[in-house]
Amino acid sequence: MCGIVGYIGKQSAQEVLVNGLSKLEYRGYDSAGIAVHDGQVIKIRKSVGRLAALESQLENLDATVGIGHTRWATHGRPSHDNAHPHTDESERFIVVHNGIIENYLQLREELQASGHVFTSETDTEVVAHLLEELFDGDLFETVKKVVQKIHGAFALAIMAKDEPGKLIAVREKSPLIVGLGDGENFIASDIPAILEYTRRVYILEDGEMAVLTENDVACYTLDGELVQKEEFNVTWDAVAAEKGGYEHFMLKEIHEQPKAIQDTLTGRISEDGKHVVFNELDWDQNYANSINQIHIVACGTSWHAGLVGKAVIEKLTRIPVNVEIASEYRYADPIVSKDTLIVVITQSGETADTMAALREMKKRGNRVLAITNVVGSSAAREADDVLFTWAGPEISVASTKAYTTQLIVFYLFALFLAEKRNTCDSQTIADIVAALRQLPELAEKSLESAPIVQQFAQQYADKEDAFFIGRGLDFSVSLEGSLKLKEISYIHAEAYAAGELKHGTLALIVEGIPVIALATQTHLLEKTISNIVEVKARDAFVLALAWEDDTQVESTVDEVIRLPRTLDFLAPVVTVIPLQLLAYYASVARGNDVDKPRNLAKSVTVE
Ligand code: F6R
Repeated sequence: MCGIVGYIGKQSAQEVLVNGLSKLEYRGYDSAGIAVHDGQVIKIRKSVGRLAALESQLENLDATVGIGHTRWATHGRPSHDNAHPHTDESERFIVVHNGIIENYLQLREELQASGHVFTSETDTEVVAHLLEELFDGDLFETVKKVVQKIHGAFALAIMAKDEPGKLIAVREKSPLIVGLGDGENFIASDIPAILEYTRRVYILEDGEMAVLTENDVACYTLDGELVQKEEFNVTWDAVAAEKGGYEHFMLKEIHEQPKAIQDTLTGRISEDGKHVVFNELDWDQNYANSINQIHIVACGTSWHAGLVGKAVIEKLTRIPVNVEIASEYRYADPIVSKDTLIVVITQSGETADTMAALREMKKRGNRVLAITNVVGSSAAREADDVLFTWAGPEISVASTKAYTTQLIVFYLFALFLAEKRNTCDSQTIADIVAALRQLPELAEKSLESAPIVQQFAQQYADKEDAFFIGRGLDFSVSLEGSLKLKEISYIHAEAYAAGELKHGTLALIVEGIPVIALATQTHLLEKTISNIVEVKARDAFVLALAWEDDTQVESTVDEVIRLPRTLDFLAPVVTVIPLQLLAYYASVARGNDVDKPRNLAKSVTVE
């Protein structure tokens, strides 16, 4: 998983490439590199580590054509040799790549047998050598031959010494877009990389390629048939993809949640405020009634949102729901009938395992609904139905506003189904819709917990372990709180169903260990309090999250964060916010790189 950029025009290619890569570092950041063509020679510069390391070594390269790359290692460790761009021995063909070329070992052996000398451990390098091997005097024709030989997932940007006025972009199962400028054109893995220069893009489909010159972009199938593409106009703002005054993207994105929730609700509630309207879903009652089970499939934080989705859909519709981890599900030969609805949930819309599950279930003939944040993403394009979360671009690796907006879509979807299937009375639906509409304001209030959370985070930042406990929906949110803390603070954290602790884990509760207890589910509160008492008896330090009007929890714990009141059923939306802040402040206190935690990348396009 990596980020690609390409530029051809009149500006300094170096500047455009570095600027574009800086917007793509969320896709990987263990090395970076660029190659530019000055009309005579190709200059390649690369460096291990962050883009800043590359930038610090760059002299003025004086060229207006080039390609660049930011890497997240898959084949071959992070090193100078493994950093992209890659080239053949004579440096005639330059390639940057995102994805995995599955048959690279076999190709590499064949190429080595015919005399090619490899300098990296990457799968990508075979592309450069194949170009050299198969070159017939025409770059476009040669690329067509090369892509027939490679299997797997690849987004490629290619440049050749002999054709300085041309770039070629290829997309097969890895995201790639082309930006359309005036006397200049762009290639990028994702829109933020080019937004500063243009809002007009072609979103390449799998199996498509594009030939770019300064003044023209022509798109083709991989067999070379011309394709007429529709221009897509990006409506969101370039500054939306910038930090906007916050110290980190994560903090900015946490604070954007009230707006993101509002945006996700907008247009989806009827004028009288009593019903959900999904213009995107043209489902009639017959179809809604025919669904006999739902499988929600996702990874990581999106999977956690799926756990809440299950509880919510089952409660309102009584349809049985399974929540499945995509990397398991795709190989599990799941038991489904033709009436099983598959719901894939993915912020990026590109996660490899989730996409594989989507494709597998479509192949089996099941209807697939995608919940995603990225318009034009693979999930959005390949699913039968799509519900967008309107969170805007999420740059920080740790997902925050994507999660809360995923929850909102699940609430809306459950209400929509319940109404269609007549499983819920109209007053209950209207009450929940009314409560949903208050959530932007309540999310704003939940953010007010920041000072007390920050203090707690600073106090406990040197601990190496933490526990999160809760029952019902609180348990689902605990899982998300614990993942967030682990991934950015590197504190080992475990989430436990509160009633399960005494079946083994209680042995780990020792004096002073922080336990974060979620206590919003009123019908389970007495039981949760008993579990809190159990950890208090072992001298844990308990921070509880409870309703602002709660009278029972405070006396049993060390500290309480008061949550703005909503229905217990909607608690995850306001409860997760202090937990995101906790992870954020713990990470800051430990001096970590909040937005780019070690070993992780934003968009996981490998298995
Ligand atoms: C954690 C996080 C990841 C993602 C996961 C799935 O903060 O962001 O766990 O949720 O990689 O990504 P998407 O939702 O893009 O499929």
